Amino acid sequence: MSLPPQLSNPTVHMRDPQRVKEILQSMQKAGSNTIQVISDFDMTLTRFAYNGKRCPTCHNILDNSKLITEECKEKLKDLLNTYYPIEIDCARSIEEKLPLMVEWWTKAHELLVQQKIKKDLLAMVVRESDAMLRDGYQLFFDHLHKHSIPLLIFSAGIGDILEEVIRQAGVFHPNVKVFSNYMDFDETGVLKAFKGELIHIYNKREGALLNTGHFQELRTRPNVLLLGDSLGDLTMADGVQDMENILKIGFLNDKVEERKQSYLNSYDIVLMKDETMDVPNAILLYLTGNK
Ligand code: TMP
Ligand code: MG
Repeated sequence: MSLPPQLSNPTVHMRDPQRVKEILQSMQKAGSNTIQVISDFDMTLTRFAYNGKRCPTCHNILDNSKLITEECKEKLKDLLNTYYPIEIDCARSIEEKLPLMVEWWTKAHELLVQQKIKKDLLAMVVRESDAMLRDGYQLFFDHLHKHSIPLLIFSAGIGDILEEVIRQAGVFHPNVKVFSNYMDFDETGVLKAFKGELIHIYNKREGALLNTGHFQELRTRPNVLLLGDSLGDLTMADGVQDMENILKIGFLNDKVEERKQSYLNSYDIVLMKDETMDVPNAILLYLTGNK
């Protein structure tokens, strides 16, 4: 079977196209019942921008909502303006960024907990938000479901919000599993904390290793398609057992020229300023024999 023509799209960049071809052929030969998909959420399954305006992350959906006071909104915006430039700064190493990212998440979660957010208002907040999945999301989710291919969404965002986004989009199918930061509510349904170990963008490896049970269940699926937008997303598959092939697809949304080389060095396929799921979808169709 010939490779998907979408790999020649102008947004597609590869360090080693021959290697990509070999991985794809090997995965296709192994069959769709040997494949699992692991994807980041914010800015990977969701759009980075629409009509020139930035789209919200899970955190931003809450931050911009009417559940948050004006004073708190200012503080959350200050945090974003301080730490997001650090997140995407290629002049700093991951080691240098890591404690600062922990600081960002910790401070943001503390502020959110102070807001006495009610669980039963989250659906409304998502409905009224500008959350947007990438064009082609429907085919992506539906195709994986149709072929019973497990999709793990591994997000440093907020699990409750993320689930609501995909539920409202009608694609929260039973083959979808989520690892993320989940809210903990008191008996009256008010946010009191976040559950479990914090997941931030640079500790997905640790998060994966805490969930060995999930990967154990999927041990008959040693071929992995990984989708991310941050270099921290590259470790999401570190819990996969007996891995045979992994194809890493990275969305490079922001600071494209500065970060291009490091993305090309770490992702097999880099999608530059591509707001669609067209390339992942074409790959999925190829891997399932266009059925
Ligand atoms: P992801 O792992 O699903 O991509 O989620 C992480 C994103 O969330 C990361 O790009 C930074 C973003 N973020 C916010 O937008 N606001 C916040 O307060 C925090 C802590 C993270
Ligand atoms: Mg992301």
